[in-house]
Amino acid sequence: MNTIQTPKILVARSIFPDALAALRQSFEVIDNQADRVFTPAELQKLLSEVDAALVAGSERIDANALAQAKKLKIVANISVGYNNFDVPAITAAGVMATNTPDVLTNTTADFGFALLMATARRVTESEHWIRNGKWDQWSITHNPLGMDIHGSTLGIIGMGRIGQGIAKRALGFGMKVIYNNRRRLPEADEKACGATYVDKESLLRQADHVILVLPYSAENHHTIGAKEIALMKPTATLVNIARGGIVDDVALAQALREKKIFAAGLDVFEGEPVVHPDLLKLSNVVLAPHIASGTEKTRRAMVDLAIQNVRAALAGDRPPSLINPEVLK
Ligand code: 8YV
Repeated sequence: MNTIQTPKILVARSIFPDALAALRQSFEVIDNQADRVFTPAELQKLLSEVDAALVAGSERIDANALAQAKKLKIVANISVGYNNFDVPAITAAGVMATNTPDVLTNTTADFGFALLMATARRVTESEHWIRNGKWDQWSITHNPLGMDIHGSTLGIIGMGRIGQGIAKRALGFGMKVIYNNRRRLPEADEKACGATYVDKESLLRQADHVILVLPYSAENHHTIGAKEIALMKPTATLVNIARGGIVDDVALAQALREKKIFAAGLDVFEGEPVVHPDLLKLSNVVLAPHIASGTEKTRRAMVDLAIQNVRAALAGDRPPSLINPEVLK
């Protein structure tokens, strides 16, 4: 007699309990509601036991992770960025890889703008100033004074969906928007977000505020280092909502210490969750714990899309956000 096996899935990080309960109706689930990040050896073993896995940036999926994964059909990232995936290795293992585009675009663009404004207007520094009892009187000159957003030039490096979302928000603030991207956008898209294409060097020289929204890849490692910071205005701010490793954090800390630029806002870090101690000592940097997509509504949408991808793959259908369609050939 043939028995149909219930597919087994790994949910590698903590997710919303109702989403987990719904998964349990259809699948045998290995969960991780304690949210302790697995070691590579633990992940390799777990992947050998399952038909599908929901993972996040904390799980490196490469040939080593997949070495024993004989029945795995899909790794579904709960993240739009997928630099934690070695896509050729995943494809070589015959596994589908998916991410969560679109559902987080506006939330992430909102946060990019929030971080830009907090950085330019010294919001967190001001709060620390009050909490440390430094506010004894209002002053025209002796309170934290910031840089203007309205009427300034915003330089966006990385003009995908999120970069374009930030550009559209900038129009409302009367900013001039310049951008640099691997590929120049079609004219209609440039028009829709009022952005002008420039080379990276011109962008760094002209922008009052630089925001990084490009995906991480080996070629993009340290897109911003000491040399690039040296091109920026001493009054400029730098915001990174892209990935740790896009910015050389040591060079940035030194530049901020020496006031080579005005301030920085960072949501992502090299080696996060560890933040370089030099950055922690500086007052002209706003720090956030990788929360650009972090509203409950959007995190739920990301989890839901990852689950849709898993359900499609296990039903023999094409997942809605397949990264490696070549695996289907
Ligand atoms: C995720 C992100 O929360 O989607 C991305 O690329 O950076 C965030 O939205 C994070 O990557 C989860 O690992």
